Amino acid sequence: MSEAREAGSPDTGAPAGNVAEVPPAGPLCLTGRIQVEVDGETVADTDDVALCRCGHSANKPFCDGSHNKVGFSDPGVILGGRLVPGRDEPAEDDPVVIVCATDGPLLVRGPLTVVASDGETVQGTKGALCRCGASSTKPFCDGTHKRSGFVS
Ligand code: FES
Repeated sequence: MSEAREAGSPDTGAPAGNVAEVPPAGPLCLTGRIQVEVDGETVADTDDVALCRCGHSANKPFCDGSHNKVGFSDPGVILGGRLVPGRDEPAEDDPVVIVCATDGPLLVRGPLTVVASDGETVQGTKGALCRCGASSTKPFCDGTHKRSGFVS
């Protein structure tokens, strides 16, 4: 039994805190204390949100199901990249802010655990997650959005 969960609550095996799950060929599924910023404005302050990572949603940064229509193909495993630790140890209940860079990636600012479809996890407080669908280091950004002309 996990020490972090309350007695009597179900043990789902999921890590505590802010989590970004990466399902195969699907969106980035975030749970925890999640804030999403676009152009300096908070567009979501929630405990559960799906953000587009195929690059084709008409409702960016949110998923609208377009990954199914465009045949987005990705195994949901960690192909490269990472999150880095911040200078200060984050509190367990700190929110993570996802800053949507204009025509660029989802910038992670706060504690986050990325959970791949094969169970591999990456933890940290800073990094860049791909939302153009073209990175060779998914789920992390490798700069391909600049060459591909991604428009957010
Ligand atoms: S956002 Fe996809 S490579 Fe940067």
